[in-house]
Amino acid sequence: MTHGDFVYLTFMRVLISERAIKKKVKQLAALLAREYKGTDCVFVGVLYGGFVFLADLVRELHRYDLHPAIDFVRLTSYQGTESTGTIRIYKDVELDLTAKRVLIVDDILDTGMTLKFLKEHLSQKGATDVKLCVLLDKKGRRKVDITPDYVGFEIGNYFVVGYGLDCDHRYRNLPYIAIYEG
Ligand code: IMP
Ligand code: MG
Repeated sequence: MTHGDFVYLTFMRVLISERAIKKKVKQLAALLAREYKGTDCVFVGVLYGGFVFLADLVRELHRYDLHPAIDFVRLTSYQGTESTGTIRIYKDVELDLTAKRVLIVDDILDTGMTLKFLKEHLSQKGATDVKLCVLLDKKGRRKVDITPDYVGFEIGNYFVVGYGLDCDHRYRNLPYIAIYEG
């Protein structure tokens, strides 16, 4: 065992287990199948954090014979400008969203600034509707008015890692959500 493994096994507290996430992903997939089955839909993953959740979600959807088109965006928010919320698009969607039903899939809704910006941005591309699905919702941290359409778990004000969520680009690969304690 490397020193790195030892550190995370010792100090990370599991908040949401792998088993609980798997169960939730199945439940969400069933709801999404009901909403999107038979429609021309595009699921937009938000890099990097949303990639694990999106991958698991769409693989569940094959059970419902639902095969959404998949695209990704990458956004960045400037450090230290949390109150003004300066968001930049690093990578935009590449598919034409005209007349498509769009679902944004991300790891976590925190202040809500990034996803509010993205929702407005994608809505301007001629989509029929743009909805939002997040695995985690830190409801108490919201700074702007945005309500997710699909939520896995509401969590408190912890800094969490795993299942796509990172600390300095690491720990995205954990199959569970853990509270990062440094
Ligand atoms: P916001 O909702 O605009 O404040 O930004 C949400 C983004 O901040 C998420 O997509 C994550 O990339 C990041 N983020 C927020 N909370 C956490 C956390 O607890 N762990 C890791 N990243 C987080
Ligand atoms: Mg993110």
